[in-house]
Amino acid sequence: MDFPTIPITSKRILVVEDDGHLRERIVKTLEIEGYTVQQASDLATAVRYLQQLRPDLIISDMNIPGSNGAGFYQMVRGDPNWTTIPFILLAEGKKQKEIQIARDLGVEDYLPKPIDFDSLVRIVHTRLLRSAELQIALIDQAYLETIEVLANTVEGRDPYTHGHIGRVSMYAQWLAEALEWPKEQMRTLAFGARLHDIGKIVVPDHILKKPGDLTPEEWELMKQHPIAGGKILSNIKHLQDALNYVLYHHERWDGSGYPHGLAGRDIPIEGRLLAIADVYDALTTDRPYHPARPRSEVIQYLNLRAGVHFDPDLTPIFIQALEDRTRFE
Ligand SMILES: [Fe+2]
Repeated sequence: MDFPTIPITSKRILVVEDDGHLRERIVKTLEIEGYTVQQASDLATAVRYLQQLRPDLIISDMNIPGSNGAGFYQMVRGDPNWTTIPFILLAEGKKQKEIQIARDLGVEDYLPKPIDFDSLVRIVHTRLLRSAELQIALIDQAYLETIEVLANTVEGRDPYTHGHIGRVSMYAQWLAEALEWPKEQMRTLAFGARLHDIGKIVVPDHILKKPGDLTPEEWELMKQHPIAGGKILSNIKHLQDALNYVLYHHERWDGSGYPHGLAGRDIPIEGRLLAIADVYDALTTDRPYHPARPRSEVIQYLNLRAGVHFDPDLTPIFIQALEDRTRFE
């Protein structure tokens, strides 16, 4: 999934140090690395900068005019607007007491004086990178939560499938972890598994909730949901990689599935993987057309249908993953 990467070197850094010579050296070093640097020699100036233009990182001497004993650090951490800004504290290396204060306060990073400028650059870069990763993770989490609400709204129209989306996502994740999928693929899976039935929005309630067999016309409508879901997602750029889950989770290994009737490895792996998780959950929970079946019986069924409905290589891996995860239940 494509997310913009954050150019770390375009970040703004605030340097607070009362020793003019040292401050200049720090500023020069960081500017050569491509950072935008603001500087302050006392607490009042530093706070003014913070209020005007929120920096992406702060480097500050422990004792600055207007505050000492890491008072500036505590002020920044105590303010909800500033508390997440990475903070590097410069402590007097010879003064064990200063280092101890920094440790006691839980300062994430401190550099002893005299400063090793290579270390300074490394720490700044690592901190900014970590901070950018955290921001992306938070945005990701927000997307996922939004999608979950949306998917649950569609699912919620059908009282029998309560919790289906959460469980299918979990089973699919177990299988993907057993296959040692990389992080990026796991992330797409999290979105795809939650959205797989989003196209059911086009299926009327009376069909979705019907306890008996569907008429051929109703069934035709039901079979539209992967395509309908694909259409909904096609306009959302960052969800394009999740399309394979939506489009292909009802295809079958022998070619008898829908909507395209693809067979074998022509079915994208995402569809083959989700099909197993989807059916496993459908059979182990109560549905209008059948009561929940015991797990052992469903595993037998999966084995029987491997190479017919399900990918014959993925099925045993799924069963093994299921047994590993639920051994202590
Ligand atoms: Fe479906």
